[in-house]
Amino acid sequence: MLSQKMEAALNDQMNWEIFSAHIYLSMSSYFAQEGLGGFSKWMYAQYQEEMFHAMKFFDYINEAGGHAKLGTIDAPPHSWGSALEAFEESLAHEKGVTARINDLADLAVEEKNHAVGIFLQWFIAEQVEEEDSVGDIVGKLKLVGDGGGLFMLDRDLGQRVFTAPTAA
Ligand code: FEO
Repeated sequence: MLSQKMEAALNDQMNWEIFSAHIYLSMSSYFAQEGLGGFSKWMYAQYQEEMFHAMKFFDYINEAGGHAKLGTIDAPPHSWGSALEAFEESLAHEKGVTARINDLADLAVEEKNHAVGIFLQWFIAEQVEEEDSVGDIVGKLKLVGDGGGLFMLDRDLGQRVFTAPTAA
């Protein structure tokens, strides 16, 4: 069972995950415009991952006796000054997501809702991975600058393909 407060908080996060997905899809489009197909593909995979996160909340809310409610999603930005700027914004965004997930976990403890706490464990671990992978790319972008290394990084990032975790 979910309290009204918990149901609202989980719905808020579901919609935030969709907003996250839209940011990354917009970044995918931006990189396509910039001729950086590998970056674009990486961001497209990130969009798919965020929709996967959103759907985990959607399914959980409904399974737990709540009502998953889709809300209004703000439009994301459409362009960035550079690849580094886009990834720095991604990292800041992911840190914000981590804080939101931690707040949800705090609410689960406060309400002694252990089932929600267990559900959130997956996201707590996932956020460590999300911050690490984006932070790694920020570091590489700082190293390569705007030179030829950017195209090598573009080729590397283009290898990414999203596959949904089987145990999820
Ligand atoms: Fe769904 Fe990137 O956090």
